[in-house]
Amino acid sequence: MKLLIKNGRVIDPKNGIDQQLDIFVNNGLIKKIGENINLENVDRVIDASGKIVCPGFIDIHVHLRDPGYQYKEEIASGSRAAAAGGFTTICCMPNTKPVIDNASVAAYVRQMAAKTAVVNVWPIGAITKNQGGEEITEMADLIAAGCIAVSDDGKPVEKAELMRNALEYARMFHLPVLSHCEDRSLAADGQMHEGYFSTIYGFKGIPTAAEEVMVSRDIILAGLTGGHVHICHISSKGTVDLIRKAKAQGINVTCEVTPHHLTLTDEAVGSYDTNTKVNPPLRSAEHIKALLEGIKDGTIDCIATDHAPHELESKDCEYNYASFGISGLETAIPLIMSLVGKHFDLNKMVSLFTTGPASVMGLNKGSLEIGGAADITIIDPKKSKTVDPGSFYSKGKNTPYAGRKLKGWPYMTIVNGKVKAEDGRIIEE
Ligand code: DOR
Repeated sequence: MKLLIKNGRVIDPKNGIDQQLDIFVNNGLIKKIGENINLENVDRVIDASGKIVCPGFIDIHVHLRDPGYQYKEEIASGSRAAAAGGFTTICCMPNTKPVIDNASVAAYVRQMAAKTAVVNVWPIGAITKNQGGEEITEMADLIAAGCIAVSDDGKPVEKAELMRNALEYARMFHLPVLSHCEDRSLAADGQMHEGYFSTIYGFKGIPTAAEEVMVSRDIILAGLTGGHVHICHISSKGTVDLIRKAKAQGINVTCEVTPHHLTLTDEAVGSYDTNTKVNPPLRSAEHIKALLEGIKDGTIDCIATDHAPHELESKDCEYNYASFGISGLETAIPLIMSLVGKHFDLNKMVSLFTTGPASVMGLNKGSLEIGGAADITIIDPKKSKTVDPGSFYSKGKNTPYAGRKLKGWPYMTIVNGKVKAEDGRIIEE
């Protein structure tokens, strides 16, 4: 299969490229990048004029729910949501049933992905067996079966001594430890951010301290062990400050932020739409401001969706009973595009989805390399569309953005040289 992508604005932060160029793809690989490439006998010429051509976008925090919760999502449906949303590579969290805490479950994910996925899928193994917080997993086995990080996401690792040992053990394998930072005693029964609006709406609040106490602990333990701790879905000013300081001290800490924590405040909970219920909760405007500053000064390494699809019953209930989570893969790009030009530029945006996540996970991806896999994301910055969860490929229709008009959507997702999605629709082979 030969593809020629013509006249796009190619942005490749790793190689310092931002100019109008053509890209020639053959047999799944990038063969040539240059001005005015003209070739005969190509299978398809893609007119990318007016579009932004980037290395394939990577989402390191996705819940595919498979095995065990296929009524919420499957590897097939979640990977299609990823491709439709402009992602070429996703990493899936281990809070499945059974938990991805041993080689056979990891192998299942890899095999199902090989059979049914339309994007690259990398499993993340658990830190502790059954995510029970008591016994560390056999990380070497998990790596051999294809895992590229460990996490108990969805749950914190409560015991500090165990986290210390996990960081020491993971360090031997250069494995990042992805930490869901939540002090459960502080967060207990909380429904939303603790602040002005939780008082007005009458919900029990989750203080930012519930996150920050754990972030502090994990930074101290990363300093003690030299292990790499990656803080998942950061949501507060205090967390940004702690990570900024730790990085300045040379501690091996990285972090991610979600599109929803950057674009919605806790005021949105006043709709009583359970799709605004997420963990950590949507915070107030001052926290969004601090997160945006963290992006600008490099404290925040990447954007990750925390794609958390749920079936209707988990959300179609009273707020207090609803599950936490937002189906995020299919709205991430336009949500972040809405911040471009106001808070950071396009190059920064692309790096947050490419070089940033690749370097956190140690993935040899996130740039356009001659001879490298042709994973390419093309964005149409002018396209406006109203979010319609009914048209999501994800089984999870749980989005608080339904009906919102957004601008700057993925135009094409190319994985290993094959067009997997075009204008939001999946191209099945
Ligand atoms: O809102 C969330 N949903 N936050 C998490 O940390 C876990 C996730 C889930 O698995 O549903």
